[in-house]
Amino acid sequence: MRSDNELYRRLRELPAGRLLAEEVPAFDALTGRERVARVALIRAVGTVVSACADERLKARARDWLRALMKDGEEKVRRYAAAALPKFQAGAAEESALLEAMKASHEDRERRRLAQSLERVGGEATLRAAESGQTPGVSVRKVKAGLARKSDGSALRMEAEVPGASGRVVHLRCRRGLESFVAEEAAAAEFKVREVRAGCVIAESAAAFTLAKAYRMRCFDTLAFPLGLIKNPSSAGAPDALAALIAGRDAVALMKALCGGPPRYRISLAGASAALMERIAEAAYALEPGVLNDPKSAVFSIDVTSGAAGALVELRPRVTPNPRMHYRVDAVDAASHPPLAACLARASSGADGVIWDPFCGSGLELVERAFLGGVTRLVGTDIDPAAVEMARANFAAAQISGVKAEFLACDFRDSPRLASLSPGTVSLVITNPPLGRRVRVPDLHGLFADLFKVSAQVLRPGGLLVFINPLRLEPEGLPLALQHRRTVDLGGYDCRLEVYRRS
Ligand SMILES: C[S@@+](CC[C@H](N)C(=O)[O-])C[C@H]1O[C@@H](n2cnc3c(N)ncnc32)[C@H](O)[C@@H]1O
Repeated sequence: MRSDNELYRRLRELPAGRLLAEEVPAFDALTGRERVARVALIRAVGTVVSACADERLKARARDWLRALMKDGEEKVRRYAAAALPKFQAGAAEESALLEAMKASHEDRERRRLAQSLERVGGEATLRAAESGQTPGVSVRKVKAGLARKSDGSALRMEAEVPGASGRVVHLRCRRGLESFVAEEAAAAEFKVREVRAGCVIAESAAAFTLAKAYRMRCFDTLAFPLGLIKNPSSAGAPDALAALIAGRDAVALMKALCGGPPRYRISLAGASAALMERIAEAAYALEPGVLNDPKSAVFSIDVTSGAAGALVELRPRVTPNPRMHYRVDAVDAASHPPLAACLARASSGADGVIWDPFCGSGLELVERAFLGGVTRLVGTDIDPAAVEMARANFAAAQISGVKAEFLACDFRDSPRLASLSPGTVSLVITNPPLGRRVRVPDLHGLFADLFKVSAQVLRPGGLLVFINPLRLEPEGLPLALQHRRTVDLGGYDCRLEVYRRS
């Protein structure tokens, strides 16, 4: 085994082309015993070739592995069966695996074949598994794989949420942004029931679809509460969770909101794979119409512990995020999109000319322009690539009636630009560099200058809305603090601040 691993590590370093052109023919010319001693090559081909971009090399590797399924050596067949699912396995590979399963009398090999069939199996595998010809192959897993491949298994954003009127939703957000989420929900025909740290609990007052809910821009994720498991460490907790997953409400929601057979994954911190399997099996026994698919599920069952027990929620996995339809590209330090939407809401009323001195890929400018009232916007950033991204994103957002200008420059030089002459700007809105992901040599100096430059370009009554990572205030400048709140920026706290130019 040790020499297998050593050989594998060595072969893994070779390029895909060389493995196939030199190592594979040499392997094929060996005797059975010699091939067994070099099975590490099969593993290396699986790892290296499946990760390369050349489709022809991948097809060659797949054909080779399929042929090895008929090898006289059990170990060779077993290794080939393990590597096959790494490639786009089709009907020919499925049939090779099924043939090998029929012919095999070795437990170890059959277990491996079962695992691979669960990953790549199609209708033929399902038929074989349902009629008991493939012991060890889980019908549930094959069905989940098939559902994944079917066209209709995506979320139906336009489907009405069952029991829509009076339906409770949990709108999760970064801590500190709850009031923006609550305000937006109230304006979108939801009644806010309760506001907790990082979660707004709202009840729909009218029929709604996910598409309609996702017109709100300040929340991060939306979930439907399924229930509470009071004693999550009890022996019965896994079955209680399975009962919620397979319960009437969860199934009705999943079936209504998914085109094909609904697939879910379980998000339960610290749970072992065996526990997840047990829960999935129990839920399948109760309701075979919804399938566990840890790989690419349409729904997530989120289990979070609290003082009262474990809260179980059903969360549609809405990807790609429809609210970001305009995002063509993003800088590395791009804003968390709902935070950009909240900054935009914090500056509503400041209409006219707006400026983001650290525009990056331009999220705040786009979000603010979506709210209306903007006649002209200016985005500046020291990085020319970021400026290009902001320009492309703004163009993709297709907001009419707003003149836009994007320029690469240090924010301190911006007041010299004709478009930002002193006293003309209504709003400076920005998520500046915070000195976390990218080090900023003089963060204090940068924020002191941001205050100065903002005071200079803003018209009287104009607003500066930004994220402040420092406890720094403008000194001797005509900027009066209007609002300040602490916001979680993904593991560390900053302040969202609003100043008015007096
Ligand atoms: C947190 S990012 C902005 C993210 C942006 N809101 C977005 O959604 O993509 C901060 C930006 O400030 C820019 N920056 C850093 N120092 C600057 C300076 N002195 N003048 C102008 N831009 C600067 C960086 O290039 C970076 O794009």
